[in-house]
Amino acid sequence: MKDAYNRTIDYVRIAVTDRCNLRCFYCMPENGIPYEPRPHLLSYEEITRLLNVLSTLGFSKVRFTGGEPFLRKDFMQLLENTANATDFQSIHITSNGTLLEKHIPKLKDLGITKINLSIDTLDPERFKTITRRDDFEKVMRCFHLLLENNFQVKLNAVIMAGINTQDIVPLAKLAERYPVSVRFIEEMPFNGGYKQNVKMFSAQAIRTTLENHFGTLTPLPGLHGDTATEFSLPGHLGQIGIIAAFSRTFCNTCNRLRIGPKGEIKSCLYDDGVFNIRDFMRSGVSDVELTEKFEEIIRLKPKDGFEAERMRKAPNTAMKSMSSIGG
Ligand code: GTP
Ligand code: 5AD
Ligand code: SF4
Repeated sequence: MKDAYNRTIDYVRIAVTDRCNLRCFYCMPENGIPYEPRPHLLSYEEITRLLNVLSTLGFSKVRFTGGEPFLRKDFMQLLENTANATDFQSIHITSNGTLLEKHIPKLKDLGITKINLSIDTLDPERFKTITRRDDFEKVMRCFHLLLENNFQVKLNAVIMAGINTQDIVPLAKLAERYPVSVRFIEEMPFNGGYKQNVKMFSAQAIRTTLENHFGTLTPLPGLHGDTATEFSLPGHLGQIGIIAAFSRTFCNTCNRLRIGPKGEIKSCLYDDGVFNIRDFMRSGVSDVELTEKFEEIIRLKPKDGFEAERMRKAPNTAMKSMSSIGG
């Protein structure tokens, strides 16, 4: 399905929970965020229904995020339903990697092999400072197990001035030995509102840091809807990427729609929620009505993240935690 700017919208990101067992300080305050009571969350049957409706509209890629999706008790059931009872060709998960390990065999059985892990440093102490939890070893073990089991892994590292810029090169070097895409992300102001002035380390600054070490980087041709500008390095098994999440340089090829844990639809990461599909569904609407609603939402998708920001009803809701948005 095309939007008003002729972009094909075929990728849905669903945040299945707002709960997280880490407390990354770019994402939420130390004490966490007030969580939604479970009945407020979309049930897995509701999510499966939404996915079926979206697949008839031509959506082919779904990403499950959170919070931490593996915290949700029925998450494996939801994945099984999605793999067996929907037409999605491509099922992806973004996870913090702390709870995933024991599910690897089942994920393989279901053919779900595309996992993005968040890891912002290779230094255990800094990991503790950034996530406010002591789970570095667990995440690294998960990373290695995923690779041993032939999963397609991408690593996401949010880069923050004065915190982990010294990790850029060591993280990038993982791509030398492992067939992994290591992506460096600009920090966005979605941290639950406790940190007002984010001093962004820009995509350009990340690139300069990488080029100072590896030499000039030439971008690889992008794929439909890519957020990352990717680069290959000579002799490396994997590749590296930069996501200009705050500078928003990739909006002109955006292919995505977001559904939050309570059914809030975001047609852009920077809007403050354009519709509640859970309430609409619970009012007893038909699949045809749901389809028409999605068509309308997609038609109204803003041109870019700056327009979405201007159109917000309440300007400060951009400060919501990423845990309740889904990344
Ligand atoms: P792939 O599907 O593997 O390319 O991953 P992805 O980039 O779509 O998803 P992921 O969950 O790994 O997100 C990586 C980073 O990109 C996160 O920090 C996201 O918040 C950011 N990101 C994802 N989609 C968007 C978007 O539409 N706009 C902006 N500004 N940032 C985004
Ligand atoms: N800015 C940029 N990226 C963020 N993420 C979480 N919070 C932020 C933020 N404030 C990233 C996580 C994860 C992805 C889904 O979103 O690191 O990889
Ligand atoms: Fe949890 Fe992800 Fe937020 Fe970190 S970024 S607190 S792992 S939801």
